[in-house]
Amino acid sequence: MRIAVAGKGGVGKTTVSAGLCLLLAEQGRNPWAVDADPNNCLGYALGFRQDLLADVTPLSEMRQMLAEQAGSSAGQGGMFTLNPDVTDIIADYEINDRDISLLVMGVVDEGGTGCMCPENATLRTILRELVHAERDLIVDMVAGLEHLGRGTAQAVDALLIITQPNRSALRTVPRIHKLAEDIGLTRMWVLGNNVSRAEEADRIQHSIPQVSLLGTLGHYPELQDDDVFAGVSGSNLKSDLSQILTKLEEQLNGDA
Ligand SMILES: Nc1ncnc2c1ncn2[C@@H]1O[C@H](COP(=O)(O)OP(=O)(O)O)[C@@H](O)[C@H]1O
Ligand SMILES: [Mg+2]
Repeated sequence: MRIAVAGKGGVGKTTVSAGLCLLLAEQGRNPWAVDADPNNCLGYALGFRQDLLADVTPLSEMRQMLAEQAGSSAGQGGMFTLNPDVTDIIADYEINDRDISLLVMGVVDEGGTGCMCPENATLRTILRELVHAERDLIVDMVAGLEHLGRGTAQAVDALLIITQPNRSALRTVPRIHKLAEDIGLTRMWVLGNNVSRAEEADRIQHSIPQVSLLGTLGHYPELQDDDVFAGVSGSNLKSDLSQILTKLEEQLNGDA
């Protein structure tokens, strides 16, 4: 399954992405974990070895390499090829731990100039390459879905929009829904996080009738700041998230 995870900052995207990856890894599925959030904390949430993470530079900071890969250089009229061969980049920059392959992409800051810079074209191509590979993949994204071009969006099996029951998180959901539809990503669910009462789940579904609620996660006081693995292995988060994963797979298989 290839899942993009989006939502407002702080709602639990990284927690859910890491948890899903850890569950998939436990099933021997060797997933890709793609960190496409500028905060780049998925590796920590996954409990990757510190020495591996210490050396990681987000791909988005390798601007010259990305631009060169896109066949662009200043003075060439800004022309760049749209299909650079990115297999080598992926092989060079992936890190592996706990049967998970992590690629830290980051986000190219476009300064409001649109998304046609060559660096971004390469990042998008990398993601497209991964999404089209026959391997489970979880992408931890920002709300703006910047990395998803049409070709990639259509190859993603589903978008999980994480929200909490509060208004500001909920307000972001219709925006993400609209952005997703615009790029051809039509299969999506909302996942409520930090939901401890039935009325909160009702409030979520009520406020966003356009996207169905896949399920909810509770509040897990034992979750540590940046190591979901510790929480996942010893808490209810693991069983709750397993149920969500099962439901997601049922939905995806039922739709296929
Ligand atoms: N259900 C939960 N219960 C307790 N703490 C949570 C829960 N979900 C997320 N957190 C904590 O909230 C913070 C933000 O979560 P995170 O997954 O990093 O959000 P995002 O990636 O959307 O910005 C983290 O410290 C995380 O451990
Ligand atoms: Mg995050």
